[in-house]
Amino acid sequence: MTTAVAGGVKAAVAGATGYVGGELLRLLTDHPRITEVRAFSTSAAGRPWAEIHPNFLNRPDTPVFETFDARQVGAWADIVFLALPHGESQLVIETIEEGSPELVIDTAADFRLKHPANAERAYGRHSKPEFLGAFANGLADIEAGALAGATRIAVPGCFATAAMLSLWPLAPVLSAESHPVCWAATGSSGSGAQAKSTTHHPFRAHNFYGYSLTGHRHEAELDERLSDWCGPRAPRCSLLTHSAPMIRGIHATLQVRLAEPVEDPMELLHTAYADRPFVHVLDQPPRLTSVVGTNHAHLHAVARDGGREVLVLTVIDNLIKGAAGQAVQAMNLARGFSETAGLGDTGISPC
Ligand SMILES: NC(=O)c1ccc[n+]([C@@H]2O[C@H](COP(=O)([O-])OP(=O)(O)OC[C@H]3O[C@@H](n4cnc5c(N)ncnc54)[C@H](OP(=O)(O)O)[C@@H]3O)[C@@H](O)[C@H]2O)c1
Repeated sequence: MTTAVAGGVKAAVAGATGYVGGELLRLLTDHPRITEVRAFSTSAAGRPWAEIHPNFLNRPDTPVFETFDARQVGAWADIVFLALPHGESQLVIETIEEGSPELVIDTAADFRLKHPANAERAYGRHSKPEFLGAFANGLADIEAGALAGATRIAVPGCFATAAMLSLWPLAPVLSAESHPVCWAATGSSGSGAQAKSTTHHPFRAHNFYGYSLTGHRHEAELDERLSDWCGPRAPRCSLLTHSAPMIRGIHATLQVRLAEPVEDPMELLHTAYADRPFVHVLDQPPRLTSVVGTNHAHLHAVARDGGREVLVLTVIDNLIKGAAGQAVQAMNLARGFSETAGLGDTGISPC
Protein backbone atom coordinates (compact mmCIF):
# COMPACT_ATOMS: atom_id res chain seq x y z
CA MET A 1 0.00 0.00 0.00
CA THR A 2 1.92 3.07 -1.20
CA THR A 3 1.23 6.77 -1.14
CA ALA A 4 3.69 9.28 -2.60
CA VAL A 5 5.01 11.45 0.21
CA ALA A 6 8.46 13.03 -0.08
CA GLY A 7 10.89 11.96 2.64
CA GLY A 8 8.64 9.13 3.74
CA VAL A 9 9.47 6.04 5.68
CA LYS A 10 8.99 2.29 5.07
CA ALA A 11 7.29 0.37 7.86
CA ALA A 12 7.04 -3.40 8.36
CA VAL A 13 4.59 -5.15 10.70
CA ALA A 14 5.42 -8.69 11.89
CA GLY A 15 2.60 -10.74 13.41
CA ALA A 16 0.34 -8.81 11.07
CA THR A 17 -2.67 -11.14 11.29
CA GLY A 18 -3.04 -10.53 15.05
CA TYR A 19 -5.25 -7.91 16.65
CA VAL A 20 -2.39 -5.53 17.42
CA GLY A 21 -0.86 -6.19 13.98
CA GLY A 22 -4.18 -5.32 12.33
CA GLU A 23 -4.45 -2.04 14.21
CA LEU A 24 -0.86 -1.20 13.29
CA LEU A 25 -1.64 -1.79 9.60
CA ARG A 26 -4.70 0.44 9.86
CA LEU A 27 -2.86 3.30 11.60
CA LEU A 28 0.31 3.08 9.51
CA THR A 29 -1.43 3.01 6.12
CA ASP A 30 -3.11 6.32 7.04
CA HIS A 31 0.06 7.85 8.50
CA PRO A 32 1.21 10.97 6.61
CA ARG A 33 4.94 10.19 7.00
CA ILE A 34 4.85 6.49 6.11
CA THR A 35 5.17 5.83 2.38
CA GLU A 36 4.97 2.07 2.35
CA VAL A 37 3.59 -0.54 4.72
CA ARG A 38 4.21 -4.26 4.36
CA ALA A 39 2.52 -6.93 6.44
CA PHE A 40 4.58 -10.00 7.37
CA SER A 41 3.01 -13.20 8.59
CA THR A 42 3.85 -16.80 9.44
CA SER A 43 0.29 -18.06 8.90
CA ALA A 44 -1.27 -16.08 6.06
CA ALA A 45 1.40 -15.36 3.42
CA GLY A 46 -0.20 -14.76 0.02
CA ARG A 47 -3.66 -13.99 1.43
CA PRO A 48 -5.21 -10.51 1.14
CA TRP A 49 -5.17 -8.39 4.28
CA ALA A 50 -8.97 -8.12 4.09
CA GLU A 51 -9.40 -11.89 4.49
CA ILE A 52 -8.07 -11.58 8.04
CA HIS A 53 -8.89 -7.92 8.82
CA PRO A 54 -12.22 -7.27 7.08
CA ASN A 55 -12.01 -3.53 7.72
CA PHE A 56 -9.53 -3.46 4.80
CA LEU A 57 -12.34 -4.47 2.42
CA ASN A 58 -13.14 -0.76 2.41
CA ARG A 59 -9.81 0.08 0.78
CA PRO A 60 -9.44 0.40 -2.98
CA ASP A 61 -6.28 -1.73 -3.15
CA THR A 62 -5.79 -5.31 -1.94
CA PRO A 63 -2.34 -5.83 -0.45
CA VAL A 64 -1.39 -9.35 0.62
CA PHE A 65 0.47 -10.72 3.63
CA GLU A 66 4.05 -11.73 2.90
CA THR A 67 6.11 -14.51 4.45
CA PHE A 68 7.77 -13.38 7.66
CA ASP A 69 11.52 -13.65 7.18
CA ALA A 70 13.32 -11.69 9.91
CA ARG A 71 16.39 -11.03 7.76
CA GLN A 72 14.35 -9.66 4.86
CA VAL A 73 12.17 -7.55 7.14
CA GLY A 74 15.18 -5.98 8.87
CA ALA A 75 16.92 -5.26 5.57
CA TRP A 76 13.86 -3.69 3.89
CA ALA A 77 12.21 -1.61 6.59
CA ASP A 78 13.17 1.70 8.14
CA ILE A 79 10.87 0.91 11.05
CA VAL A 80 9.95 -2.60 12.20
CA PHE A 81 6.91 -3.16 14.40
CA LEU A 82 6.83 -6.53 16.17
CA ALA A 83 3.33 -7.66 17.18
CA LEU A 84 4.23 -11.23 18.14
CA PRO A 85 3.26 -13.34 21.17
CA HIS A 86 5.56 -13.10 24.17
CA GLY A 87 8.85 -14.93 23.61
CA GLU A 88 8.93 -14.59 19.81
CA SER A 89 10.54 -11.12 19.54
CA GLN A 90 13.61 -12.26 21.48
CA LEU A 91 14.07 -15.08 18.95
CA VAL A 92 14.19 -12.73 15.93
CA ILE A 93 15.65 -9.47 17.25
CA GLU A 94 19.28 -10.19 16.35
CA THR A 95 18.44 -11.26 12.80
CA ILE A 96 16.21 -8.22 12.28
CA GLU A 97 18.94 -5.90 13.51
CA GLU A 98 21.46 -7.39 11.08
CA GLY A 99 19.56 -5.39 8.44
CA SER A 100 20.09 -2.15 10.43
CA PRO A 101 16.54 -0.79 10.50
CA GLU A 102 16.49 2.68 12.05
CA LEU A 103 13.93 1.76 14.67
CA VAL A 104 12.45 -1.45 16.13
CA ILE A 105 9.26 -1.17 18.20
CA ASP A 106 8.11 -4.23 20.14
CA THR A 107 4.55 -4.46 21.43
CA ALA A 108 5.17 -7.68 23.38
CA ALA A 109 6.65 -8.06 26.85
CA ASP A 110 10.04 -9.37 25.64
CA PHE A 111 12.02 -6.17 26.23
CA ARG A 112 9.81 -4.18 28.59
CA LEU A 113 11.71 -5.04 31.76
CA LYS A 114 15.17 -3.67 32.46
CA HIS A 115 16.34 -6.16 35.05
CA PRO A 116 16.91 -9.83 34.13
CA ALA A 117 15.75 -11.02 37.58
CA ASN A 118 12.41 -9.18 37.15
CA ALA A 119 12.00 -10.57 33.62
CA GLU A 120 12.69 -14.11 34.77
CA ARG A 121 10.35 -13.82 37.75
CA ALA A 122 7.50 -12.55 35.56
CA TYR A 123 8.03 -14.51 32.34
CA GLY A 124 10.58 -17.28 32.93
CA ARG A 125 13.92 -17.69 31.18
CA HIS A 126 14.86 -14.98 28.65
CA SER A 127 16.89 -16.13 25.66
CA LYS A 128 18.51 -12.71 25.04
CA PRO A 129 18.96 -11.11 28.47
CA GLU A 130 21.62 -8.80 27.01
CA PHE A 131 18.79 -6.91 25.26
CA LEU A 132 17.01 -6.18 28.56
CA GLY A 133 17.58 -2.53 29.39
CA ALA A 134 18.48 -1.82 25.76
CA PHE A 135 14.95 -0.77 24.77
CA ALA A 136 13.52 2.66 25.62
CA ASN A 137 10.32 2.60 27.61
CA GLY A 138 7.51 3.37 25.17
CA LEU A 139 5.06 4.90 27.65
CA ALA A 140 4.63 7.74 25.19
CA ASP A 141 2.38 10.08 27.18
CA ILE A 142 4.88 10.16 30.03
CA GLU A 143 8.25 9.58 28.33
CA ALA A 144 7.44 12.12 25.58
CA GLY A 145 10.66 13.97 24.58
CA ALA A 146 12.83 11.28 26.19
CA LEU A 147 11.93 9.06 23.21
CA ALA A 148 13.54 11.44 20.69
CA GLY A 149 16.12 9.55 18.66
CA ALA A 150 15.34 6.15 20.23
CA THR A 151 16.28 3.19 18.02
CA ARG A 152 14.59 0.45 20.09
CA ILE A 153 11.31 0.91 21.92
CA ALA A 154 9.32 -1.52 24.07
CA VAL A 155 5.67 -0.57 24.40
CA PRO A 156 4.25 -1.20 27.91
CA GLY A 157 1.48 -3.73 28.48
CA CYS A 158 -2.12 -2.56 28.12
CA PHE A 159 -3.01 -2.97 31.82
CA ALA A 160 0.36 -1.51 32.77
CA THR A 161 -0.33 1.52 30.54
CA ALA A 162 -3.64 2.23 32.28
CA ALA A 163 -2.11 1.70 35.73
CA MET A 164 0.97 3.85 35.00
CA LEU A 165 -1.13 6.70 33.60
CA SER A 166 -3.06 6.58 36.89
CA LEU A 167 0.03 6.33 39.12
CA TRP A 168 2.34 8.88 37.46
CA PRO A 169 0.54 12.05 38.67
CA LEU A 170 0.62 10.70 42.26
CA ALA A 171 4.33 9.80 42.17
CA PRO A 172 5.39 12.92 44.15
CA VAL A 173 3.11 11.97 47.08
CA LEU A 174 3.53 8.18 47.14
CA SER A 175 5.46 6.41 49.87
CA ALA A 176 6.42 2.80 50.57
CA GLU A 177 3.30 2.56 52.76
CA SER A 178 0.86 3.87 50.12
CA HIS A 179 0.07 0.35 48.85
CA PRO A 180 -1.63 1.31 45.59
CA VAL A 181 -4.20 -1.16 44.31
CA CYS A 182 -5.29 -0.94 40.68
CA TRP A 183 -8.54 -2.74 39.97
CA ALA A 184 -8.88 -3.09 36.19
CA ALA A 185 -11.20 -4.77 33.69
CA THR A 186 -10.48 -5.53 30.04
CA GLY A 187 -12.38 -6.68 26.98
CA SER A 188 -11.86 -9.96 25.14
CA SER A 189 -9.55 -8.53 22.44
CA GLY A 190 -6.94 -8.25 25.20
CA SER A 191 -6.17 -11.94 24.84
CA GLY A 192 -5.46 -11.90 21.11
CA ALA A 193 -7.03 -13.21 17.93
CA GLN A 194 -6.68 -16.92 18.56
CA ALA A 195 -9.87 -18.52 19.88
CA LYS A 196 -9.71 -19.96 23.40
CA SER A 197 -12.32 -21.49 25.69
CA THR A 198 -12.31 -18.26 27.71
CA THR A 199 -12.97 -16.13 24.62
CA HIS A 200 -15.78 -18.34 23.27
CA HIS A 201 -18.88 -16.15 22.87
CA PRO A 202 -21.30 -18.10 25.17
CA PHE A 203 -18.66 -18.10 27.92
CA ARG A 204 -17.52 -14.56 27.50
CA ALA A 205 -20.38 -12.43 26.20
CA HIS A 206 -22.29 -11.94 29.46
CA ASN A 207 -19.57 -12.87 31.92
CA PHE A 208 -17.41 -10.95 34.39
CA TYR A 209 -14.60 -12.51 36.41
CA GLY A 210 -11.19 -11.91 37.96
CA TYR A 211 -7.99 -13.66 36.91
CA SER A 212 -4.25 -13.68 37.77
CA LEU A 213 -5.31 -12.40 41.18
CA THR A 214 -2.29 -13.84 43.00
CA GLY A 215 -0.01 -11.66 40.86
CA HIS A 216 -0.30 -10.31 37.31
CA ARG A 217 2.80 -10.20 35.07
CA HIS A 218 2.37 -6.49 34.40
CA GLU A 219 3.09 -5.81 38.10
CA ALA A 220 6.80 -6.26 37.26
CA GLU A 221 6.58 -3.26 34.88
CA LEU A 222 4.84 -1.23 37.56
CA ASP A 223 7.58 -2.14 40.08
CA GLU A 224 10.31 -0.91 37.72
CA ARG A 225 8.54 2.33 36.82
CA LEU A 226 7.60 3.14 40.43
CA SER A 227 11.20 2.57 41.40
CA ASP A 228 12.35 4.96 38.61
CA TRP A 229 9.83 7.59 39.72
CA CYS A 230 9.96 7.28 43.52
CA GLY A 231 13.37 5.76 44.30
CA PRO A 232 13.62 4.18 47.77
CA ARG A 233 10.12 5.37 48.78
CA ALA A 234 8.55 3.40 45.87
CA PRO A 235 5.50 1.38 46.88
CA ARG A 236 4.49 -1.88 45.18
CA CYS A 237 1.24 -1.73 43.22
CA SER A 238 -1.20 -4.66 43.21
CA LEU A 239 -2.90 -5.11 39.85
CA LEU A 240 -6.27 -6.88 40.14
CA THR A 241 -7.31 -7.86 36.63
CA HIS A 242 -10.81 -8.78 35.44
CA SER A 243 -12.47 -9.84 32.21
CA ALA A 244 -15.51 -7.75 31.30
CA PRO A 245 -18.28 -8.50 28.77
CA MET A 246 -16.99 -6.22 26.01
CA ILE A 247 -14.55 -6.50 23.11
CA ARG A 248 -12.30 -3.49 23.54
CA GLY A 249 -11.11 -1.24 26.31
CA ILE A 250 -9.72 -1.14 29.83
CA HIS A 251 -11.31 0.58 32.81
CA ALA A 252 -8.90 0.97 35.73
CA THR A 253 -9.61 2.26 39.24
CA LEU A 254 -6.49 2.99 41.27
CA GLN A 255 -6.86 3.29 45.05
CA VAL A 256 -4.00 4.75 47.13
CA ARG A 257 -3.57 5.56 50.85
CA LEU A 258 -1.46 8.62 51.56
CA ALA A 259 0.47 9.55 54.72
CA GLU A 260 -0.12 13.25 54.08
CA PRO A 261 -3.60 14.18 52.88
CA VAL A 262 -3.94 15.61 49.37
CA GLU A 263 -6.53 18.36 49.12
CA ASP A 264 -7.13 18.30 45.38
CA PRO A 265 -5.86 15.22 43.51
CA MET A 266 -7.32 16.64 40.27
CA GLU A 267 -4.64 19.32 40.45
CA LEU A 268 -1.97 16.59 40.42
CA LEU A 269 -3.54 15.12 37.27
CA HIS A 270 -3.80 18.51 35.56
CA THR A 271 -0.17 19.30 36.36
CA ALA A 272 1.12 15.91 35.16
CA TYR A 273 -0.72 16.01 31.84
CA ALA A 274 -0.90 19.76 31.15
CA ASP A 275 0.52 19.61 27.63
CA ARG A 276 -0.07 15.99 26.67
CA PRO A 277 -2.26 15.70 23.56
CA PHE A 278 -3.73 12.26 24.26
CA VAL A 279 -4.45 12.47 28.00
CA HIS A 280 -7.57 14.29 29.14
CA VAL A 281 -8.45 15.04 32.75
CA LEU A 282 -12.25 15.07 33.04
CA ASP A 283 -14.44 16.66 35.71
CA GLN A 284 -16.41 13.45 36.10
CA PRO A 285 -15.62 9.71 36.09
CA PRO A 286 -14.56 8.69 32.57
CA ARG A 287 -16.62 6.37 30.40
CA LEU A 288 -14.99 3.64 28.41
CA THR A 289 -16.84 4.13 25.13
CA SER A 290 -15.53 7.71 24.89
CA VAL A 291 -12.04 6.34 24.15
CA VAL A 292 -12.77 3.08 22.33
CA GLY A 293 -11.28 3.28 18.83
CA THR A 294 -8.92 6.12 19.81
CA ASN A 295 -5.41 6.70 21.15
CA HIS A 296 -6.78 8.88 23.96
CA ALA A 297 -6.90 8.28 27.71
CA HIS A 298 -9.49 9.87 30.01
CA LEU A 299 -8.76 10.29 33.73
CA HIS A 300 -10.53 11.58 36.82
CA ALA A 301 -9.46 11.67 40.48
CA VAL A 302 -11.44 11.65 43.73
CA ALA A 303 -10.31 12.37 47.31
CA ARG A 304 -11.81 10.36 50.19
CA ASP A 305 -11.25 10.30 53.94
CA GLY A 306 -10.15 13.93 54.01
CA GLY A 307 -7.63 13.38 51.21
CA ARG A 308 -5.87 10.41 52.88
CA GLU A 309 -7.27 8.13 50.22
CA VAL A 310 -7.22 8.94 46.50
CA LEU A 311 -8.93 7.20 43.60
CA VAL A 312 -7.82 7.68 40.00
CA LEU A 313 -10.11 6.33 37.30
CA THR A 314 -8.62 5.78 33.83
CA VAL A 315 -10.05 4.45 30.57
CA ILE A 316 -8.13 3.46 27.43
CA ASP A 317 -8.57 1.34 24.32
CA ASN A 318 -6.34 -1.71 24.95
CA LEU A 319 -5.46 -2.21 21.27
CA ILE A 320 -4.73 1.45 20.48
CA LYS A 321 -3.53 3.40 23.54
CA GLY A 322 -2.55 0.06 25.11
CA ALA A 323 -0.59 -1.20 22.07
CA ALA A 324 -0.69 -0.10 18.39
CA GLY A 325 -1.54 3.59 18.91
CA GLN A 326 1.01 3.99 21.64
CA ALA A 327 3.58 2.31 19.35
CA VAL A 328 2.81 4.81 16.56
CA GLN A 329 2.90 7.73 19.03
CA ALA A 330 6.30 6.47 20.28
CA MET A 331 7.52 6.23 16.67
CA ASN A 332 6.38 9.82 16.07
CA LEU A 333 8.31 11.01 19.12
CA ALA A 334 11.39 8.96 18.26
CA ARG A 335 11.51 10.15 14.64
CA GLY A 336 10.61 13.79 15.26
CA PHE A 337 7.25 13.56 13.46
CA SER A 338 4.29 15.46 14.86
CA GLU A 339 3.36 13.49 18.00
CA THR A 340 -0.24 13.17 16.89
CA ALA A 341 0.48 12.23 13.24
CA GLY A 342 -1.66 9.37 11.98
CA LEU A 343 -3.54 8.99 15.25
CA GLY A 344 -6.77 10.90 14.62
CA ASP A 345 -9.01 12.29 17.32
CA THR A 346 -12.62 11.30 17.61
CA GLY A 347 -13.80 7.74 18.07
CA ILE A 348 -17.29 6.52 17.27
CA SER A 349 -20.42 7.16 19.27
CA PRO A 350 -22.48 5.31 20.27
CA CYS A 351 -20.32 2.19 20.29
N1 LIG B 1 -4.34 -7.63 22.54
C1 LIG B 1 -4.02 -6.60 23.30
O1 LIG B 1 -4.89 -5.88 23.81
C2 LIG B 1 -2.57 -6.26 23.56
C3 LIG B 1 -2.28 -5.08 24.20
C4 LIG B 1 -0.94 -4.75 24.46
C5 LIG B 1 0.08 -5.61 24.07
N2 LIG B 1 -0.24 -6.78 23.46
C6 LIG B 1 0.87 -7.66 23.07
O2 LIG B 1 1.07 -7.50 21.66
C7 LIG B 1 1.45 -8.75 21.08
C8 LIG B 1 0.43 -9.12 20.01
O3 LIG B 1 -0.83 -9.25 20.65
P1 LIG B 1 -2.14 -9.64 19.86
O4 LIG B 1 -3.28 -9.47 20.80
O5 LIG B 1 -2.17 -8.98 18.54
O6 LIG B 1 -1.88 -11.21 19.65
P2 LIG B 1 -2.52 -12.15 18.54
O7 LIG B 1 -3.80 -11.59 18.07
O8 LIG B 1 -2.49 -13.52 19.11
O9 LIG B 1 -1.48 -12.05 17.33
C9 LIG B 1 -0.14 -12.46 17.40
C10 LIG B 1 0.35 -12.81 16.02
O10 LIG B 1 1.70 -13.24 16.12
C11 LIG B 1 2.00 -14.13 15.04
N3 LIG B 1 2.75 -15.27 15.57
C12 LIG B 1 4.07 -15.51 15.34
N4 LIG B 1 4.50 -16.58 15.97
C13 LIG B 1 3.43 -17.08 16.63
C14 LIG B 1 3.24 -18.21 17.46
N5 LIG B 1 4.27 -19.01 17.79
N6 LIG B 1 2.00 -18.42 17.95
C15 LIG B 1 0.98 -17.60 17.66
N7 LIG B 1 1.12 -16.48 16.88
C16 LIG B 1 2.32 -16.25 16.35
C17 LIG B 1 0.68 -14.49 14.39
O11 LIG B 1 0.62 -13.67 13.23
P3 LIG B 1 1.16 -14.17 11.80
O12 LIG B 1 0.64 -15.53 11.60
O13 LIG B 1 0.61 -13.14 10.90
O14 LIG B 1 2.66 -14.14 11.90
C18 LIG B 1 -0.38 -13.97 15.35
O15 LIG B 1 -1.54 -13.55 14.68
C19 LIG B 1 1.49 -9.77 22.24
O16 LIG B 1 2.79 -9.92 22.70
C20 LIG B 1 0.60 -9.12 23.30
O17 LIG B 1 0.93 -9.51 24.61
C21 LIG B 1 -1.54 -7.13 23.17
